[in-house]
Amino acid sequence: MKALVLAGGSGTRLRPITHTSPKQLVPVANKPVLFYGLEATAATGITEVGIVVGDTQAEIQAAVGDGSAFGLRVTYLRQEAPLGLAHAVAIARDYLGEDDFVMYLGDNFIVGGIDDLVGRFTADRPAAQILLTQVPDPRQFGVAELDASGRVIGLEEKPQVPKSDLALVGVYLFTPAIHEAVAKLEPSSRGELEITDAIQGLIDAGHRVESTVISGYWKDTGNVTDMLEVNRLVLESLTPRVDGRVDAESELIGRVVVEPGAEVERSRIVGPVVIGAGTRILDSYVGPFTSIAAACTISHSEIEYSIVLPRASISGVRRIEASLIGHDVEITPAPATPRAHRLVLGDHSKVQIST
Ligand code: G1P
Repeated sequence: MKALVLAGGSGTRLRPITHTSPKQLVPVANKPVLFYGLEATAATGITEVGIVVGDTQAEIQAAVGDGSAFGLRVTYLRQEAPLGLAHAVAIARDYLGEDDFVMYLGDNFIVGGIDDLVGRFTADRPAAQILLTQVPDPRQFGVAELDASGRVIGLEEKPQVPKSDLALVGVYLFTPAIHEAVAKLEPSSRGELEITDAIQGLIDAGHRVESTVISGYWKDTGNVTDMLEVNRLVLESLTPRVDGRVDAESELIGRVVVEPGAEVERSRIVGPVVIGAGTRILDSYVGPFTSIAAACTISHSEIEYSIVLPRASISGVRRIEASLIGHDVEITPAPATPRAHRLVLGDHSKVQIST
């Protein structure tokens, strides 16, 4: 069995962060989202992983390398344009050969791993097995319709009038039967080859498609609200550890990780919080569910429920909340007069100013 991990796409909903970094590498608890998926894959015993990449191939490749850090053997498969999930399967056709495979969307986050799922699929071997979860607004997802016994009878991609509230989660298991269904596809109205249509093709051809409804948490980390939620969730199971330096005037409360080379002075940190290597926290308050990456400086500031990327500097700002701050960003107070906001914002930035 192989894995096909999808790490293309442009990440428009996470701009401007994704102008300079692929969405799959945005960190959750200081670790790229994609790494959680790769670890979950490795935990199933799968070692052969094809990663489908697009324009951000260089960044993904620099982060994941040959996969040996995860115990995986990674092959990069270039998708010339984001033409759909089924298109990704099509370009991976030769790589996948006659093997069964799990397809994992690199920006999805599944709590509790996928071992059980892969185990059940291997034992039962339906043509396809999908994961479903109840969502408040199914119109943003692929939506499944089940019969009374739980068998999948229909699938629709982003329907205006959903037939259920069960959304397709971004982990799919396939036998090679999927390749015939993919070969027959025509582009959808959004111009993509939809995996949802390919699975519908399997059902129409009389193949067995099974589903598992997961109640465990999952998110499509395509937007800031979801990123912050996933970050909160991962931080909740943090094991506290202090490898950096914390002075006597500082207070660490709850689960806090201070990485090597980090310094905390005259500050109050209320966990769960992770502070990256070489980061300095001076005269500040860092509140729950905050991940601060490596080599940042936070001084005379307050921040909570936020993600801060490497080398950002925040000084003299009270208080920052529910924010995603990009790498090398500088935030400082404006001079006292005139009382005005002075902004240098990248394209597609989103700023909420409290006045
Ligand atoms: C894709 C699939 C959709 C699925 C979703 C899960 O959507 O097409 O069926 O529910 O991933 O993340 P997209 O990310 O292309 O909008």
